[in-house]
Amino acid sequence: MKVIAFNGSPRPKGNTARMIREVFGVLEEAGVRTELISLAGKPLPGCTACGDCAMTKDGRCSIAGDDLNDYVVKMIEADGILLASPTYFSDVTAEMKALIDRAGLVVRMSGDLLKRKVGAAVVVARRAGSIHAFDTLNHFFLINQMIVCGSSYWNVGFGLEEEQVARDDEAMATMRTLGHNMAWLLKKLRG
Ligand SMILES: Cc1cc2nc3c(=O)[nH]c(=O)nc-3n(C[C@H](O)[C@H](O)[C@H](O)COP(=O)(O)O)c2cc1C
Repeated sequence: MKVIAFNGSPRPKGNTARMIREVFGVLEEAGVRTELISLAGKPLPGCTACGDCAMTKDGRCSIAGDDLNDYVVKMIEADGILLASPTYFSDVTAEMKALIDRAGLVVRMSGDLLKRKVGAAVVVARRAGSIHAFDTLNHFFLINQMIVCGSSYWNVGFGLEEEQVARDDEAMATMRTLGHNMAWLLKKLRG
């Protein structure tokens, strides 16, 4: 069993990465393989609404020159998908939104390729707007007929400077519980 995580932060060693690491620690202890993809520093333009994926239905986006199609393959191969983003103006980052729009349309047009995989959202904020970003991530899972996994609180942590979220004890505990719940759910569904 495998979980793939996408970090939408432009800071690959920031708070979002720290939150993902906490979830991964528990998943790995439970025997679930993990892989992290950071969207930082890689071009990922938004959907151009060309409609090609609706015509070809081949699980591919026709925009060339970026890694979107590799990301889609990684999602299809995984049993669970973690989407993690900092809060930017009360929503996800532009990189994460591009991933959601393009991967979301491609997999839906090709027959709901992510159906019944496990999905979990993780968000970091300095102060406010995290729940709106959390909702954005969960919309991706829900329209794709995925099973959304929760924790003991909404999957949110607080911090501004890199790694500051590690001092948010409740957030760290919430991440560990998320890891336990994801491992449990994956074993029920796929074990
Ligand atoms: C452009 C921009 C917009 C931001 N908007 C918000 C916001 O709306 N609410 C908030 O609490 N923090 C906001 N922040 C702070 C980040 O969410 C916070 O620093 C977070 O820890 C960054 O995660 P990272 O370390 O993984 O990059 C913003 C930061 C930037 C650069």
